[in-house]
Amino acid sequence: MKILVINGPNLNMLGKRDAKQYGTLTLAQINKQLGSFAESLSVSLKFFHSNHEGEIIDYLQEETDSADGILINPGALTHYGYSLRDALIDTKLPIVEVHLSDIDRREDFRKIDVLAGIALDNIKGLQEKSYILGLEKLINYIRNNSKV
Ligand code: DQA
Repeated sequence: MKILVINGPNLNMLGKRDAKQYGTLTLAQINKQLGSFAESLSVSLKFFHSNHEGEIIDYLQEETDSADGILINPGALTHYGYSLRDALIDTKLPIVEVHLSDIDRREDFRKIDVLAGIALDNIKGLQEKSYILGLEKLINYIRNNSKV
C-alpha cells in the first residue's frame, strides 16, 4: 500500500509558527513519526510539500495512478483552494484531511472548508497527533475496502 502525504502552504515553517495552534514539531519531525508508524504497518509513504497550489495539483496528477490514498493538510488552501478540490476529486482515491489546529474554533474565514465532503474524514485540533490518527483511519479504510 502506498499513501501520498501532502502538505500545503507554510507547513514547511512548522517549528517556527504559532506553537499554541500548531505545536512545536517541524514538518520533518512529523513526517518521521508518520514514517515509523507506517513502517510498523508495512505501508509506504511518499511525502510532498509545496507552497503553491498548482504544484500540488501537478503532483497529484503525476502520482495518483501509483497511489492507494492521500493524507493531506492543505494549509490555507483549505479555505479557498477550489482547483485543489477538483484535483483531489479527480484522483478518485480515498482522502483524509488533517489540521494541526482546530479550524472551527479560530477566525471565521477558517471555518470555511472548501474541501468539505470529499474526504473520508477530517481530523483537526490534535496538533501532530491529527496526522497519526488521520493516517491510521486512512489505512484502515483502504484495508477494509480493497478488492484483493
Ligand atoms: C492549518 C490550518 C489553516 O487554517 C492554516 O492556514 C494552516 C494550517 C492547520 O494545520 O491547522 O496553515 O491547515
